This record gives sequence, structure tokens and C-alpha cells, in this order.
Amino acid sequence: MLEIKNISKCYGKFPALTDVSLEISPGMFGLLGPNGAGKTTLMRIITTLLTPTAGEISMGNINWKKAHLVRNMIGYLPQKFSLYKNITVKEVLHHIAVLRGFYDQREKMVVDVLEKVNLLEQKDKKIKELSGGMIRRVGIAQAILGDPQIIVVDEPTAGLDPAERIRFRRLLHYLSKESIVIISTHIVEDIAATCEQAAILHKGKILKKDDLKSLSDMAKGKVWSMTLSTDEYFNISKEWNVISSQHLGDKYNLRIISETPPNGAVSATPTLEDAYLYLMGCVSE
Ligand SMILES: Nc1ncnc2c1ncn2[C@@H]1O[C@H](COP(=O)(O)OP(=O)(O)O)[C@@H](O)[C@H]1O
Ligand SMILES: [Mg+2]
Repeated sequence: MLEIKNISKCYGKFPALTDVSLEISPGMFGLLGPNGAGKTTLMRIITTLLTPTAGEISMGNINWKKAHLVRNMIGYLPQKFSLYKNITVKEVLHHIAVLRGFYDQREKMVVDVLEKVNLLEQKDKKIKELSGGMIRRVGIAQAILGDPQIIVVDEPTAGLDPAERIRFRRLLHYLSKESIVIISTHIVEDIAATCEQAAILHKGKILKKDDLKSLSDMAKGKVWSMTLSTDEYFNISKEWNVISSQHLGDKYNLRIISETPPNGAVSATPTLEDAYLYLMGCVSE
């Protein structure tokens, strides 16, 4: 179990994280929050690239203060991941393996990680010939060199097309069978599709952490659905917090978040997205 205790981080006087505590068990953990919430800051602290202003991290009897012991336990795919364009997939991974101090077992290691991310066939292709989804998978391949116990991926699905995004989520889910995988995102669907547990981060503070069902249940009794004509839709969208609408022939099916039901609406089962939007609405008021 990875234990994050009372972590705070200030950049100068600006508090980017305030008293963040999380317990993360094996499996896939989601860190959900809007831009500027502090996700990257927290991930960089987990990877030891950044030192917290206060608080502690530990796993078993290893404390993050001994960063040199921790580094080999962690694989990291940073939010801004870039590679030299003119070398091949295999060359990139060999290069990174050497930088990490893996020498002798390198050939087998590189083949193993390429197999896991399903890129063995592309091993001799140059980086510039790969799609965005493939480059992200090279990013995962370098992160899992040496079989780290913790894999940290920061906004990995940004910029991927829908099919690549699904394939990439499936890969992370597969890796989470043997490691702790921590994914940050502002896209609710990334987490709803893969994670067992998640935390919602806003302005450097954890608003809520729980299993997905309990997180969704926060919006229980606050989500409503109704079907309206186009004219009625335009009137109601001025008055109520409409979070989604679906066009069905000459009617609209709406989803609305509200403490009280709009006239004619029926109660809907909340999703994680509803709960996230509900919570964000509460904190911005
Ligand atoms: N090196 C830095 N110096 C000053 N402020 C920073 C620095 N890095 C991030 N911040 C600020 O800290 C907050 C959290 O940033 P970040 O952790 O990148 O959030 P997220 O990844 O959720 O978008 C933002 O307001 C950002 O502007
Ligand atoms: Mg970020």
C-alpha cells in the first residue's frame, strides 16, 4: 500500500497542494481534477522529482525521503513526453535503459516491454513514423522498464483519438494487475472505464476519495432526466444546470443537476461524470 500523508507543496507562496492524504492499494487509481488542480505536482512528488514542502510518503518500510531507494520502484510517463524523432523505437528504449543503469539484461528487457505494449512489430520504425497512440505506448514501454511496482501516468490520453484512447486504457488496466497504476486526467471517462478507486482534486485539495460507486453516489437524488421539445429546451437551459443533451428526432433528452427536481423530470441514476460536475458546481459557487 502506498501511503501519502499530509502532503503540501508551495511554489513560493502559492499553495499548489494542501494537506493531501491518500492510501493507494494495488490496482488502478485515478486522480481526477481540472487544469491547475495540482495533479502534475502530486505526481512529480510521488516520483521523487519534486520534494514536498510538508508531509510524507511511504510504502511498506520504505520512506520517500530515501529517494535513491524509491526511484527504481517507479515508472513515470510525464504529461509532456517527447522523444527524438529520428531514431527507432528500439534505439529509444535501449538508450533510456542505459540511462536507468540497466546494461546486461537490456536486450531482453526491451523486447519484453515492447511485447507488453504491443509494439514489437514497430520496433525498427522511427519515432516520426508512429501515430500519437503508438508514441504514448512507447512512453509506457519506457516507464515499465525494470518492472516498477508503481506506474505513474500523467494525463496520458490527451490528444488521442477515441479508438487509441480505448486501447491505451486497456493497456493500463492490464498493467494494474501487477502494479499500482496511478493515472491523472481531467477526463472522467478515463477513470470511469478503468479505475477501482479515485480521488477528486481541486485547487490543491482532495475533495473526495472513494471507490467509483461511492463517488457516483454523491450525486444521488441530484440528477434528473427529461424529454422536451426544442423550444422548451431553450427555455429550460437558461434556468437549470443542464449537463448533457441528446437530440432524439424532434425532441431533446436532457440531464440536469439540481437539488430539487425540475417540473416533469424523473430521477436518474448518477454516473461518475454527474458526481464530478455536481461537486465542481458546489465548489465554484
Ligand atoms: N514550477 C511552478 N512554479 C509556480 N507555480 C507552479 C509551478 N508548477 C505548477 N504551478 C502552479 O501550481 C498549480 C498546479 O499545477 P499543476 O500541478 O501543473 O496542476 P494540473 O496538473 O492539475 O494542471 C497551478 O496553479 C500552476 O500554475
Ligand atoms: Mg498537469
